[in-house]
Amino acid sequence: MKKAGINSVSLGIFAWATLEPEEGVYNFDWMEEIMDNLYENGIYTILATPSAARPAWLDEKYPEVMRADAMGVRRRHGGRANSCMSNPVFREKIGNLNRKLAERFSHHPGLVMWHVNNEPCGVCFCDSCAATFRKYLSAKFDNDIEKLNDAWWTAFWSRKYNNFDQIEPPYSNGEFVTGLHLEYKRFMTWAAADLMKHEMSILREANPAIPITTNVMEMQNSLDLHEYVKEMDAVSWDSYPSFHNNTESLEETLRQSGFNHNMMRSLKKDRPFMMMESAPGCASGFPYNKQKRPGVHKMHALQAIACGSDTVQYFQIRKSRGGFEQHHGAVIDHAGINNRIFREVAEVGEMLKKLAPVAGTTVPAKVALLFDWDNRWSLQLAQGMRNGDRGYEKTCVEIWKAFNKVGVEIDIVSSTDDLSDYKVLVAPMMYMTHPGVAEVLKKFVAEGGQLLSTYLTGYIDENQLCHLGGFPGDDLTSLFGIISEEIDTLYPTDKNHIEFADGTRAEAFDFCELLQVLDADVLAKYTDDYVAGTAAVTKKAYGKGNAYYVAARVAAKDMVPLFEQMLADAGIPTMKAPEGIVHHTRIGEEGEYDFYFNATTEPIALPDLKGYDMLREVEVDGTVEIEGYGVVVIKRA
Ligand code: GLA
Repeated sequence: MKKAGINSVSLGIFAWATLEPEEGVYNFDWMEEIMDNLYENGIYTILATPSAARPAWLDEKYPEVMRADAMGVRRRHGGRANSCMSNPVFREKIGNLNRKLAERFSHHPGLVMWHVNNEPCGVCFCDSCAATFRKYLSAKFDNDIEKLNDAWWTAFWSRKYNNFDQIEPPYSNGEFVTGLHLEYKRFMTWAAADLMKHEMSILREANPAIPITTNVMEMQNSLDLHEYVKEMDAVSWDSYPSFHNNTESLEETLRQSGFNHNMMRSLKKDRPFMMMESAPGCASGFPYNKQKRPGVHKMHALQAIACGSDTVQYFQIRKSRGGFEQHHGAVIDHAGINNRIFREVAEVGEMLKKLAPVAGTTVPAKVALLFDWDNRWSLQLAQGMRNGDRGYEKTCVEIWKAFNKVGVEIDIVSSTDDLSDYKVLVAPMMYMTHPGVAEVLKKFVAEGGQLLSTYLTGYIDENQLCHLGGFPGDDLTSLFGIISEEIDTLYPTDKNHIEFADGTRAEAFDFCELLQVLDADVLAKYTDDYVAGTAAVTKKAYGKGNAYYVAARVAAKDMVPLFEQMLADAGIPTMKAPEGIVHHTRIGEEGEYDFYFNATTEPIALPDLKGYDMLREVEVDGTVEIEGYGVVVIKRA
């Protein structure tokens, strides 16, 4: 580890069966020996609670701790990430072990952080969850079943409930009420966060000075990350991009990875995040587990830093001889450390030492993309328009990439976040609006913000009821100066087009709304089909800002002129890096740190750089050549 420049490890993540081999029998000496040994060698420990995998004795004695599937059928012993998150027995048993761990280790000089659970995810449909869900609903709807009936529109198809006891989780062979489905998703986030808080409170009792994190996953569907991370001291996540795949260029993979990092960074904007896991070589759980080509590991590691991470960590240190992940890449292979992968890991270790001044800095972006879990789930649950994947995630990623390509840092925020620091906001497909969001958006624009929304905006409220009085509802019609009269769904083979005043044309596909223009400027019109000649893109000056509406799905690249106009009006400069270069910036009190990644195998000249080249340790002023798969980090005063 010292040879690789490693200065902290996350330990004991799945070690319940070893830490507590029988109920109430604790075996911690081995852990202490490792922590002592690490500490004496200058390596800190992030100590995990082992809640992500259960020992056999627990499942045998208390089967109710095992999750039930969507038919309500209890899972069997084995696997991981499959405990019932609301079950009181599970909470009691993991609580007992955590208390003992905290008593023993929370004042160990080598302990820098707690790592609770591992990649929390998934849904449980057991009786314990059903009972807790009913209590949760009763509190939410003031113990008034009629309030729930109204909110979920249960008269339709005779779904009316007489009391809360009749409500069941949305089993796959049971009820389909969209309000119920959405609320169960929210409930699962609540249950996961509540379990985490339970674990955290025990650790904090023993030593409140030790920060706590949980490693989450990219674009995770089952947890609303904005809600889930609230109690954590730092956000950490596990990054496994599929480098060198057969569907996109390495540049696109890197930009997708940048999107994922930025989402994590945006969850707690005032502090760095942690890249808790990455594969030193290949992973093992994907359909194809390709090795990173020489140099790519360095790009993967430093891109995390470039986007706001203060750590580069690995799964796994020593390759596991057996078990499910025995072929997964590791820092130390079965054959030892005389190999390419170890050398590349060690090279990253050296680079991180040089980049130490970057630690603690953040990325104060002025542009935000709205990505909202409640909205995402609502788009998944809706019946109508086009069923199946409505392309929300892809649309968001493509828009983020378009801003990244013009050198603009862009946060990824939820509609309930504080938007006051931003000048430009893109809110695509905001189908569901939370109460109060329309007011926030109006204030944002009135005070000088540039806002862009699209088709499928403002259709339903937080309980899935349609807004009345025209879409986009909640009086967003007055902000955009349009009413969306109807939405047409196109087959994949159908195409329409839009044309801007200067004659620029773009393809429109998937969704085309027919707009009534109330008081907005028309920037582009449809050219085909029954909507030909009607407005497709509008702009309304509202207070000191502007509200744009794009009524049809067009590729993000075709919206770039609109984005550039918004950036120019907001006074935000753009910067086009040469083709093949991915760029990110972190900002600290001592300067700005520009990271350039060459996503091609050929050298590329980076013109007009001025500052300190942190990896080569020289001042530069002019053109700097960046090798294929190379990284250049320039510190500007
Ligand atoms: C996840 C888990 C790890 C390991 C890796 C493999 O991120 O947290 O335990 O299984 O995947 O890539």
